[in-house]
Amino acid sequence: MTVRLRWSRTLAGEGADTTPAQQVVNEIAADGGRAVANYGNVAKYDEAAAMIQQAVDTFGKIDIVVNVAGILRDRMIFNMSEQEWDAVIAVHLKGTFNVCRQASSRFREQKGGRFINMSSSSAFGSPGQPNYAAGKSGILGLTWVLANSMRAYNCTANAILPSGWTRMIDAVPRTVQQVMKETGKMPSETAAGTERDPENVAPLVVYLASDDAANVSGQCFASFGYSISLVSQPQVVKTVRNENGWTLDSLGALLPKTFGEGLAVPVPLDDGTVKTIGLNSHRGDIAEASWMEVGHGAKFWKIDLPPYGETR
Ligand SMILES: NC(=O)c1ccc[n+]([C@@H]2O[C@H](COP(=O)([O-])OP(=O)(O)OC[C@H]3O[C@@H](n4cnc5c(N)ncnc54)[C@H](O)[C@@H]3O)[C@@H](O)[C@H]2O)c1
Repeated sequence: MTVRLRWSRTLAGEGADTTPAQQVVNEIAADGGRAVANYGNVAKYDEAAAMIQQAVDTFGKIDIVVNVAGILRDRMIFNMSEQEWDAVIAVHLKGTFNVCRQASSRFREQKGGRFINMSSSSAFGSPGQPNYAAGKSGILGLTWVLANSMRAYNCTANAILPSGWTRMIDAVPRTVQQVMKETGKMPSETAAGTERDPENVAPLVVYLASDDAANVSGQCFASFGYSISLVSQPQVVKTVRNENGWTLDSLGALLPKTFGEGLAVPVPLDDGTVKTIGLNSHRGDIAEASWMEVGHGAKFWKIDLPPYGETR
């Protein structure tokens, strides 16, 4: 039986828009499951508390939280208003905290639970999204804290960088323009059954919530179309140590020879901004010969397999 709690507001995150949430509730009910909608605002501490309480009142307990609420207010840093910054940080970062905070005390008591948090590849520096990137980076940090602090209570916490043509993407002018030109439809109207279908993310969410993933925690997965990628955790890659301490002179003399070598230079884009760092390898730019067949019709690539284009 499917049991789902779904909350929904308008795309812009303002006011209650009952339709999408109620549609999902109806679909689950038609499938023989139980679900309930909630129209509260995750950015508000008390309303997030009421959501968790509603889940407990309806289903007897809560085992899994998936933090999925999100809004966009895209703008270059030099044009961004304080309100645009605050609104996005409130929904993404504070909203994720609010829900996790409420769920965590229940998880601690019952010694079990799953946190699944939606971050974004934008976290790695999307030029026109300072508020969104900061919020989504914050969610990664919070997810690692949850993984570390709630491990003792048999909980896991993981982040997903999802992708799909949803209502949110219908608000991204460049994508809308391109898809409209090609199909005459909004992106979300063309996604079903294709690589852009947001349903491609769902199996990963359910897997992370399942017993099979009891030892998967503190990880960040990128889901892009039919690819699922594991993103490395930040790690120290170079260290230079000076027993005498550092001066500006010694730094100036040594850093170019040590850290300075091989630093990635930001790649300029047509619009004057630069390419987001990271995540180069889950978007279809892996040469055919670098993949390994692993069954179930799937192929696999990892960083220590031969580099792009080289055969084994
Ligand atoms: N679609 C993508 O390609 C993509 C890429 C990276 C990350 N994400 C992230 O995935 C998550 C889901 O996004 P989506 O693409 O399905 O967008 P969506 O607009 O379809 O869904 C977001 C939902 O959040 C709800 N919401 C907004 N503000 C809220 C609030 N204050 N309280 C409660 N609910 C609120 C909206 O009503 C909507 O139902 C978001 O966190 C988004 O940032 C999406």
